[in-house]
Amino acid sequence: MTEPLPPVFNRKNPLLARISSKKLLTEGCETKRTWHLEIDLLGSGLSFTPGDSLALLAQNDPTLANELIETLGFSGDETVLNPAKEETTLTRALVENYIITTPDKKLLRSIAEKTENVELSSLLDPEKKKDLADHLWGRDIIDILQANPEAKFEASEFVSLLKKLNVRLYSIASSLAYHPDRVDLTVAVVEYESHDRKRQGVCSSWISERAVENSDIPCFITPGKGFRLPEPDEDVPIIMCGPGTGIAPFRAFLQERKETSAKGDAWLIFGEIHEQTCYFYKDEWEKFLEDGTLSKVSTAWSRDQDEKVYVQHKIIEEGVHFWSYLERGAIFYVCGDAERMAPDVDKALHQIIMDHGGKSEDEAAEYVSQMKANKRYRRDVY
Ligand SMILES: Cc1cc2nc3c(=O)[nH]c(=O)nc-3n(C[C@H](O)[C@H](O)[C@H](O)COP(=O)(O)OP(=O)(O)OC[C@H]3O[C@@H](n4cnc5c(N)ncnc54)[C@H](O)[C@@H]3O)c2cc1C
Ligand SMILES: NC(=O)c1ccc[n+]([C@@H]2O[C@H](COP(=O)([O-])OP(=O)(O)OC[C@H]3O[C@@H](n4cnc5c(N)ncnc54)[C@H](OP(=O)(O)O)[C@@H]3O)[C@@H](O)[C@H]2O)c1
Repeated sequence: MTEPLPPVFNRKNPLLARISSKKLLTEGCETKRTWHLEIDLLGSGLSFTPGDSLALLAQNDPTLANELIETLGFSGDETVLNPAKEETTLTRALVENYIITTPDKKLLRSIAEKTENVELSSLLDPEKKKDLADHLWGRDIIDILQANPEAKFEASEFVSLLKKLNVRLYSIASSLAYHPDRVDLTVAVVEYESHDRKRQGVCSSWISERAVENSDIPCFITPGKGFRLPEPDEDVPIIMCGPGTGIAPFRAFLQERKETSAKGDAWLIFGEIHEQTCYFYKDEWEKFLEDGTLSKVSTAWSRDQDEKVYVQHKIIEEGVHFWSYLERGAIFYVCGDAERMAPDVDKALHQIIMDHGGKSEDEAAEYVSQMKANKRYRRDVY
């Protein structure tokens, strides 16, 4: 008898999986909330490899959807079409189907036309992309509507000017070999205040704060592009640099390494704001250090002293050790913030190669190019 094929889950056919457990990883920290989530996969057939991400089909905050409905002067019961062209209520469409935070250009153009707003019209000029982005930074659809109260819409017309809500990816923080039937995530809540209103990221606030334990969440796997461990019997050292939520895939890597008795040294470099309140998964690293799954942990606490201390400072500080790993053929993995952290860590990598490998700037750049070509420098940054 042939084995049945595993089910295929994707955006159109997501798995509805249950959040089985949630834990705040930043208990006592006043400036950030990062959550550990466990999602039950029992009987689902969903499979993944460390380095993959889980795609979540997020929902908007119903309070924000109601504020938008009120701003537009609707009741919410109006009939509109969802992206699959099925009839639904305006409320459901705004909660489940469409982007109601950042306005699409189509909507901005319509508002500009309806109100003859010359300034908004001019920002829509393709040459003024950066000016438009600056104008929209910290502003959502409600802000734009409130600034242009003469813009009036029919409910179905308004919905036709919105973009479909997109999925959000989260690096998987567990290994199926270590925790069968479960997928863990490490999610930082995006939160800020702008134009006198508190704003929250759509998905991070939904999955970690509005979705309670035992809620079902629609999800599917997206494979990690080359963010993979070496084979367990390859005696290759690895360096994993994952500040903040960048730690997530390395938890999956280490669990997998434990289960497969992987060879080769493993060095984890983690950074967060405070050691006391933000040392994610500390007990787990201690156990892995004891049993040899991990060889070394370095930490950088950015706000425990006057001067910022970041992961790249630790890399520079431990330059001799870092260089010895590189010379033994180590794979260097980096995960987390793309905008600030990843370029700074890249600079530190070049610096180590110059300082400890005795190379010129150009030679260091060539060394890094070779590392990339040989898949020894792998980044998963966002
Ligand atoms: C491969 C991959 C893996 C990822 N893994 C993880 C992970 O493991 N954990 C994790 O937490 N995230 C991860 N992310 C990021 C995640 O996908 C989401 O982008 C993140 O959670 C924010 O989504 P959101 O829906 O909550 O916020 P959104 O609703 O998308 O809001 C974010 C937007 O808000 C705006 N914004 C943010 N701050 C401000 C501010 N101060 N002022 C004005 N505007 C602001 C910006 O426009 C920003 O783009 C990953 C991303 C990728 C691509
Ligand atoms: N706006 C929000 O509310 C919000 C919330 C969560 C996540 N995010 C975004 O989501 C991504 C990941 O966030 P995260 O929670 O995983 O962690 P993060 O914001 O990247 O912070 C993790 C650690 O990295 C430090 N850091 C800041 N700049 C750095 C740099 N140039 N080099 C090295 N380390 C640096 C931070 O220090 P300091 O913060 O002390 O400088 C902190 O100690 C980031 O892009 C972040 O901007 C935004």
